[in-house]
Amino acid sequence: MYDVSNFKIKPNPVILGIESSCDETACAIIRGRRLLANQIISSAQIQAKFGGVVPEIASRAHTEAVDEVVNNAILEAGITLKDIDAVAVTYGAGLLGALLVGLSFAKGLAYSLNVPLIAVNHIRGHMASAYLDEPDLKPPFITLLASGGHTAILHTKSLTEFEVLGGTSDDACGEAFDKCARVLGLPYPGGPNVQRMAEGGNCTISLPQCLVRNPERLQFSYSGLKTAVINYCHNKEQKGEEINKADLAASFQKAAIDPLIKKTVECAKNLGVYTVTAGGGVIANDYLRNQLTCACKKENIKLVLPEKKYCTDNAAMIASEGLNQYLEGNFASLDINAKAAIPLK
Ligand code: KG4
Ligand code: ZN
Repeated sequence: MYDVSNFKIKPNPVILGIESSCDETACAIIRGRRLLANQIISSAQIQAKFGGVVPEIASRAHTEAVDEVVNNAILEAGITLKDIDAVAVTYGAGLLGALLVGLSFAKGLAYSLNVPLIAVNHIRGHMASAYLDEPDLKPPFITLLASGGHTAILHTKSLTEFEVLGGTSDDACGEAFDKCARVLGLPYPGGPNVQRMAEGGNCTISLPQCLVRNPERLQFSYSGLKTAVINYCHNKEQKGEEINKADLAASFQKAAIDPLIKKTVECAKNLGVYTVTAGGGVIANDYLRNQLTCACKKENIKLVLPEKKYCTDNAAMIASEGLNQYLEGNFASLDINAKAAIPLK
């Protein structure tokens, strides 16, 4: 009989993590904080033909790939099924059909092995990716989170507790990158393509910064920046003038990222928390990585910057957050459902 209350917490557990919230089917295995395997099968190339993620295609791709990524991860880790102490899985936020593939698989696996199921919030997975690069990392630290759906600065206080210091009031930073890519005629996925184009440009175009003047709280806004890029292009087109796309991409990138860096460092200094981490797809951006590295160095702040492959969607971060939840005994019941949206807190 599968009974959540019977499970004991072991030191250095082997946790298998599964991620299927968007277009990556991924499985990773950790023992304690040590990563044993990290497998991923992406449907991004198929999705690129449609200019973005088509939910039905994502679900079908997960169905075809989930068995293979899990088997490959077990082989890579050199373990057998009976070595697994817990199964962690993304239950939200994301595309419902896509999530259900990973969640159903994880439930079946946890049930058949009679081990705890750990339901992981995808965004908290991104926040936990820093532990992959620095297994000895201990809270407190300040986290800069920037993905396709979220942009926030957080104060991580313990393995499972954190405070949101500020966030976006409209679009997320990654979303703005994707929209800017569309305006520039760049294919999906937009963020990396904007970065590539920006590399050949100069920041000569004046665009609004994405920081809201709000004395009450720290607030970002990306909708004005997005509109400014669209308006700039319309104006140029109406005048029959050529657009320097590389300059526009570079100017956009700077406007989108500089305030995040400035405020992350400010939060660290104001709170006296001299460790900064980062997570989410936008953290794979080279301009952001360089700027954050320089800013932290200048202020003597220790920076834990996850490798790029742990910034974009992956299962290692789900296993990593799974361990945080496991150590606190936060086990899920088998009737847990997938959720398209979950608040950050
Ligand atoms: O974390 P993620 O893989 O998925 C979500 O949970 O949303 O983030 C995806 C977002 C997309 O908006 C993508 O364009 C952006 O991260 N992104 C980048 C880069 N790589 C991915 N944005 C800017 N520069 C990049 N190199
Ligand atoms: Zn993500």
